Amino acid sequence: MYKIRPIDKIRGEIYPPPDKSISHRTVLLSAISKGDTEIANFLRSNDTLATLDCIKRLGVEVKYLGTNKLLVKGCGKYLPIQGKVELNAQESGTTIRIISGLLVGQKFSSTIYAEKSLRNRPMKRVTQPLRMMGANIYGENREGKEELPPILIEPTDKLKSIHYSMPVGSAQVKSAIILAALFAKGKTKIREFIASRDHTERLLKLFRANIEEKKGYILCSESQLITPGKIFIPGDFSSAAFFIVLGTISSDSQILIKDVGINSTRIGLIRILKKMGANIKILRRKNYFEPHADILVKSSNLKGITIDAKYIPTMIDEMPIIFVCAAFAKGETTIFGLKELKVKETDRINSMVYNLKKAGVDIKANPFDDDWMVKIKGRGKDIFNLKSLEFRSFSDHRTTMSMIIFSLATGNTHYIDDIDCINKSFPEFIYIVDSLRKK
Ligand code: S3P
Repeated sequence: MYKIRPIDKIRGEIYPPPDKSISHRTVLLSAISKGDTEIANFLRSNDTLATLDCIKRLGVEVKYLGTNKLLVKGCGKYLPIQGKVELNAQESGTTIRIISGLLVGQKFSSTIYAEKSLRNRPMKRVTQPLRMMGANIYGENREGKEELPPILIEPTDKLKSIHYSMPVGSAQVKSAIILAALFAKGKTKIREFIASRDHTERLLKLFRANIEEKKGYILCSESQLITPGKIFIPGDFSSAAFFIVLGTISSDSQILIKDVGINSTRIGLIRILKKMGANIKILRRKNYFEPHADILVKSSNLKGITIDAKYIPTMIDEMPIIFVCAAFAKGETTIFGLKELKVKETDRINSMVYNLKKAGVDIKANPFDDDWMVKIKGRGKDIFNLKSLEFRSFSDHRTTMSMIIFSLATGNTHYIDDIDCINKSFPEFIYIVDSLRKK
């Protein structure tokens, strides 16, 4: 049981960890590019280390030049493996889905295994479009309809382009198709109804791939990547999000969060929080292949709002912490389009409903229009009168960090059963929280 002591009157300046999504992608693209890539500010967390381990098993040489600095020796398009290779994505959904797109174009067979929660996460969303491209890729069919890890891939020299309209807004699926397109004949055309994070597209431009966006489509064709030499990865907005919310809902507080990625496909939380009445300023914006900036946040009283389904992909990982904001707000918050939360590391609708109900929050989740919606009646100032509670992590990093932020701001001591899962994305989370306590 981990004890969460409250904090108030926060005055602090923090650096969030490096971006997880960009860290995965940078090492994967560096591995199949020509030349060596020096990667500064690489995230060392369980998920990104799983990707790093995979590329090492694929024969790619990697050296640490410092704690978060890597040198990846690019092998060119075709990786130096003969016969078969066995990889393990551990619990990282981004690793297993994105690397699948890279492996279907290779000249060897591969099996990608998974651990714990990832063993039950849906893979057909990736294997199906890749099979349409001619790939020999199959997940295991334990439940009949869905395909689950492990994923088996056999080589083919018949990869072809497709025109694909994304049925789910998923950057992992989109990225797998784009990577496969680098090995396929013809021009692959992808249409997204709601834009998901575009880090793969931005990085591929930096690696000089044949990729462009035109009239709402992503167009990508056969390419040999060339390294840009050096890449700096900005701070992770999804990790910064916990402190943006902490600064907002804690009384009499102000936090400056430095060097955070502010890619517009990621910062839905800022738009939503501003609508709820938050005081957030973006300062010192820098334009690189990914824009980044400092974010200044001050305490505010939030009000409930309605959030349309079309905003969800730009804040998919922030939904648990947005539930926390809604619990602190005055009035009702209704959120549509949440079904993807059900297939994350845990069912995040379920985990957050369980924990917030425990805290006396009136929260209801219901199926709606082939999707899911959640209604939360905020407790407003009344939330500061909670007795001490025990929350459950559900072994999910974002549920755990969200409930810790919730606890810190309520002004009482609470507990949570496990915090190990935080290492999936944000190993320094507790350290940073403690750095905000008054000495
Ligand atoms: C990610 C995409 C999102 C997100 C995940 C990271 C990525 O998943 O939830 O944490 O790096 O591409 P989906 O593609 O399933 O939406």
